[in-house]
Amino acid sequence: MRMLDMPALSGATRTGHLNEIRDDRFGLFRRLNRECGDIGLAKVLGIPLVFANGPEVLHEMLVEKARSFIKSPGLRGPLKPFAGQGLFTSEGEFWRQQRKLMAPLFTHARIERYAADMAECASHAIASLRPGDEIDAARITTHIAMRIAGKTLFDIDTLDEADELGAALTVALHWASETSLSPVYAVQLRALGALSSVAERLPEPYRARSEARLEAMVEPIRWPGEQTKQFEAALAVIHNRVDRMIADRRASGTSRPDLLSMLLDARDESGNRMSDQQVRDEVVTLFIAGHETTATALAWSLYLLARHPEALARARAEARAIPGPAVESRDLPALGYCLRVFKESMRLYPPIYFFGRQAIADVTLGGYDLPRGQVVLISSYALHHRAEIWPDPERFDPSRFEPAVEEKRHKQAYLPFSAGPRTCIGNLFALMEGPIVLATILRRVDLELRSQAVIEPEASATLRPKGGMPMRVTAVETGAA
Ligand code: HEM
Repeated sequence: MRMLDMPALSGATRTGHLNEIRDDRFGLFRRLNRECGDIGLAKVLGIPLVFANGPEVLHEMLVEKARSFIKSPGLRGPLKPFAGQGLFTSEGEFWRQQRKLMAPLFTHARIERYAADMAECASHAIASLRPGDEIDAARITTHIAMRIAGKTLFDIDTLDEADELGAALTVALHWASETSLSPVYAVQLRALGALSSVAERLPEPYRARSEARLEAMVEPIRWPGEQTKQFEAALAVIHNRVDRMIADRRASGTSRPDLLSMLLDARDESGNRMSDQQVRDEVVTLFIAGHETTATALAWSLYLLARHPEALARARAEARAIPGPAVESRDLPALGYCLRVFKESMRLYPPIYFFGRQAIADVTLGGYDLPRGQVVLISSYALHHRAEIWPDPERFDPSRFEPAVEEKRHKQAYLPFSAGPRTCIGNLFALMEGPIVLATILRRVDLELRSQAVIEPEASATLRPKGGMPMRVTAVETGAA
């Protein structure tokens, strides 16, 4: 079938669905699922955007036909100025080599050693809390996740938002998120699309050469202004600090128990190691991809528990039954309920709530013929709210993730970490960090929401709680770490 025969989303204006994508993205994602079913078409400034909605179509695209797609330029371009050729933003053979090199660093056996650091960072962040304190729980989870990233990546104990590197990374991520939504960047991408169609018709070797040049153009143009100035200052801090850490580590000649040393020691099949520039790109990528997502998932977990007293009591009892002064990796099997809470929070509020691909060859998807260059978007947020997959989808129910229930569901019905070859490399890390941090908090402090008003998600770089997560500390257990 032709792509244009695909079910199309109603309500396009002169700019297509641009305003809705900018102003009511969640409404648009849900409407697409409702009106178009498993695969549908929306438009932005005349450009057709395909939305893959159903688990079968998602499996076809992310797993079976993964080689026919790359990540969509609009979502990776704004990250490139700081994440460079890191794992999140690179493509093709280069990405494949890097993934192969880095996969061993994220196996269960390797990351288990970070469990104690995760518990320690969480304990540290809540140590000073006292009954009656009014806090923003989202700031606390960011603080914890940043510290964990600092410790596990660089073996430094003090990395947080107060640190210039932590602050610079936050500025950079904010810039990328704002830029990806800006109409000016949409126009840049449209021009890029037009140039790509011309390049496609060129004979080799001109075609390959122009494609390399066009790839460089996915980075947003930095128009003069205050935001660009701040972003470039942040970029300088990131590059200087990370470069210095790499140089110091190489000069010291010693290996430390962190990811930086593992990246510096990693060798490909021919025995070659990564260049310093590549290590920098990977370090920045891991730091950004690793902390913001987990912090967001943890904040929503605390929110959902605060709104569901029975679930809270159960999670707290589980956490408090852990013997010993701190949660350790061997306690993870006993934290099954905390893990299910964490997973259910990512169903309702997936930190990466949408992502995208671009076809690099003519390809059929869901029975429709897509041309080379076609962008396909995926909203895990809408997928996780489909009533035919998730009965009573708005209800918080951690039992959806009991192993027997999970087994019966389509594998691609739940995509907080994406799927296929580009699935999140840190998923085991996150699924360990989530329950450890939650249990450490629940063992020590009791929290309540300062208001019963529903907290809305905000479509920024991740699905952050709009206006933060205002909570009050009601009790502190002094004996627990
Ligand atoms: C709750 C926490 C997390 C969530 C929800 C999450 C989600 C995701 C998603 C959805 C993708 C794929 C995006 C796409 O296909 O376009 C991804 C990729 C990635 N994530 Fe995570 N992530 C989390 C934690 C982490 C952690 C802890 C790390 C590292 C320590 C990490 C590192 C990465 C990297 C490097 C990639 C790119 C992988 C590749 O393309 O080969 N993430 N993540």
